[in-house]
Amino acid sequence: MELSSARILLIVGGGIAAYKSLDLVRRLRERGAQTRAVLTPAGAHFVTPLSLAALTGGKVYEDLFSLTDEAEMGHIELSRDADLIVIAPATADLLAKAAHGLAGDLASTLILATDKKILAAPAMNLRMWLAPATQRNVAALSADGMAFIGPNDGSMACGEFGPGRMAEPMEILAAIETALASATSIPLPAGAAKSGALAGRRVVITSGPTHEPIDPVRYIANRSSGKQGNAIARAAAAAGADVTLISGPVALADPPGVAVVHVETALEMLSAVERALPADIFIAAAAVADWRVEAAPDKLKKSGSGPPKLSLVENPDILAAVAARKKQRPTLVVGFAAETRNVIEHAKAKLSRKKCDLIIANDVSPESGVMGGDENEAHLISAAGVENWPRLPKDEVARRLVAALAARLAEMRR
Ligand code: C5P
Repeated sequence: MELSSARILLIVGGGIAAYKSLDLVRRLRERGAQTRAVLTPAGAHFVTPLSLAALTGGKVYEDLFSLTDEAEMGHIELSRDADLIVIAPATADLLAKAAHGLAGDLASTLILATDKKILAAPAMNLRMWLAPATQRNVAALSADGMAFIGPNDGSMACGEFGPGRMAEPMEILAAIETALASATSIPLPAGAAKSGALAGRRVVITSGPTHEPIDPVRYIANRSSGKQGNAIARAAAAAGADVTLISGPVALADPPGVAVVHVETALEMLSAVERALPADIFIAAAAVADWRVEAAPDKLKKSGSGPPKLSLVENPDILAAVAARKKQRPTLVVGFAAETRNVIEHAKAKLSRKKCDLIIANDVSPESGVMGGDENEAHLISAAGVENWPRLPKDEVARRLVAALAARLAEMRR
């Protein structure tokens, strides 16, 4: 479904990020989408019903037991009469209520009563976001089919720095478009036939960093948020593929409708990949540590005679190993080349050295803001040449990659 004809029910929770939701409403309206707003009592401490009403051009719903609301439109109709429900900001409290099926107020009742897809843009203090309870709730909601955008890393109103900032309005807008496009991709009951460009295909994706222990409490690792790999897993699942995501340690919720295997080290990642094959497509988006340490069984102590010498052993190259398989080589093997200079040149060399079919190359120099960010400027490199993509949200890069892979598979079938 197109954004220009979509009806969005926006639930505005209580958080400083609520001001960004006003901008989101404005941008939705500019694009022709109709927005109805629900403001929680906590949300009303941050933005006024009047501003939301002015921007949506309609009534703002605040109270579960308002007789006029029920006379005009019951709460069940309110949630059913929308194409998508967006919760922004989605507070820890709203997510906890949704995860447990509570329905004591208007917002949580609407979330429980809806038969429509829900997109949540979490916003909270980073410790609240990383708290095991919130992560459990997010994982449960993802498994139930709720989609998430963000939170982003950054400085927070409370003065701390880390994950918890609500995604920017333009990012939420892009996620709304994705959610509307894949509105039929809420995980189907087991055994139900899937539709989409990758229906009937198996896709295995590695993502995130690997952690290589130095001793029981320390490790070495590469920088990787896992956002691009998670986005590819979501996009492949939305295209109907049967997806296994093998993820190193990341602070992200598991994508819905995807089998996720959590690993820590490169060796664990390799054996999880081998177990997950055969597949039609293998995508190596992980930032695998090139070396592991000959780990000490006990915690190393500061001895006073200088730092310990770490002895490094080369890790297997998972991408090259999969591309070199004689048996069960996936039809398409895709690698990533994260470079800080001469991006295309290095990526082309990688394509032939690792014998993969496609490379997604990108600039990860600190000035690019790609590392840990929500956008990527990628180049698709194959034996046929280079396709340059503009700077795009990682979700859009994922969708383009999935579309390119589906087109190649379809072409090979002919
Ligand atoms: O050689 P380099 O690490 O730059 O290559 C990056 C590509 O190779 C990525 O697709 C990454 O996932 C993959 N890779 C791998 N196993 C390694 C190292 C990199 O799969 N040990």
